[in-house]
Amino acid sequence: MIPIKRILFLVSGVSSFIIFYMGLVNYLTAVEPATGMILLVFATVVASGTLLSTVYISKSITTPIEKLAQNMTEFSKTNKIRDKKPINTNIKEIYELNENFKSMGQKVEETISVQKEYVEKLKGIDRKKAEFASMVSHELKTPLVPILGYVQMLQKQELMGELNKQQLDAVDEIYLSALKLQKLIGDILTTQKLDLGKLEFNQEDIDITKLLNSIIKDFTPITSQKNIHIVKNNTENIIIFSDKDRIHQVFSNLIKNAIDFVESEKGQITIGAKNEKEFIKFFVKDNGVGISDTNQKEIFKKFYQIDTSTSRKRNGSGLGLAICKGITEGLGGKIWVESKEHVGTTFYFEIPKQSIKVNSKK
Ligand SMILES: Nc1ncnc2c1ncn2[C@@H]1O[C@H](COP(=O)(O)OP(=O)(O)OP(=O)(O)O)[C@@H](O)[C@H]1O
Ligand SMILES: [Mg+2]
Repeated sequence: MIPIKRILFLVSGVSSFIIFYMGLVNYLTAVEPATGMILLVFATVVASGTLLSTVYISKSITTPIEKLAQNMTEFSKTNKIRDKKPINTNIKEIYELNENFKSMGQKVEETISVQKEYVEKLKGIDRKKAEFASMVSHELKTPLVPILGYVQMLQKQELMGELNKQQLDAVDEIYLSALKLQKLIGDILTTQKLDLGKLEFNQEDIDITKLLNSIIKDFTPITSQKNIHIVKNNTENIIIFSDKDRIHQVFSNLIKNAIDFVESEKGQITIGAKNEKEFIKFFVKDNGVGISDTNQKEIFKKFYQIDTSTSRKRNGSGLGLAICKGITEGLGGKIWVESKEHVGTTFYFEIPKQSIKVNSKK
């Protein structure tokens, strides 16, 4: 880009030189010296006038335009009008241009600061909402302890007297509902903590083979009751440094989902781990109904549940996968899904093998 000033001075300089040169040639070659002299004086006046008017134009037009351009460039970078380069001009159009630019800039500045205030307010409201939900869920947890305790005593019968079949059925139903409520409150609390960045993690040595064995052991009663086959496919015998209980929680959520979506008798669930460079890649694979491509993008969002006629009517709140995502990310890893409808689904999650900076319990 060539600055306007340079073009102006170049054009006027060359024209002034040509005019003066022509005057000089005329003077040197003139038959009558007086005429030559008049022409030379005339040429000198015109050339000087051209140069002087260029200086005037440059001062009153190009300099303010240059300053305005610099102010605009600075504004586009900082969104602030600092009036660092005041513009003094008598040219009406440039004056109006500068005034309009200043008032436009002030409006933009005001809009930006109002927007910032809104964003701060919204953040504050979000934080208060999350803290309120956290407090409420915490308060709901406390009364559940005596409810579950007394219901269990009623179920045992020897402690509080015999119940007839109808009464026992009712007590069993209360017990199951109280357990569901307890799980829901726990999940909401965990999600809130994840949102607030307050979920704490523990780091310890974890023997992967032992961890997978204990998970299989925990789930065998429920899978065998439903005639579903659960196996471990793990060739890696390594130790990692991470949060055992949280990894267990992710596996539990994924396996519970897999159990819900495979057919009994034919259902097959495989869990395992693969040793990668800096990460360990865990997986939970099933041969259930599968998840469409569109739904795969949504299922990690809070409260998202797929609504299809193929999926069994099931309980749950749609928080399980959001929690899995929050935990794996909190541990420095990630989670993703690969699935084909009517074939099956595999959830993968990667966790760093070595210590990382986490929101620690200590
Ligand atoms: N293995 C799977 N096969 C098919 N669909 C699945 C599978 N896992 C999850 N989904 C779908 O993803 C949705 C979200 O799962 P998520 O675990 O977050 O919630 P949920 O199981 O419905 O409830 P919650 O886990 O909170 O009790 C499920 O409702 C289900 O539709
Ligand atoms: Mg679930």
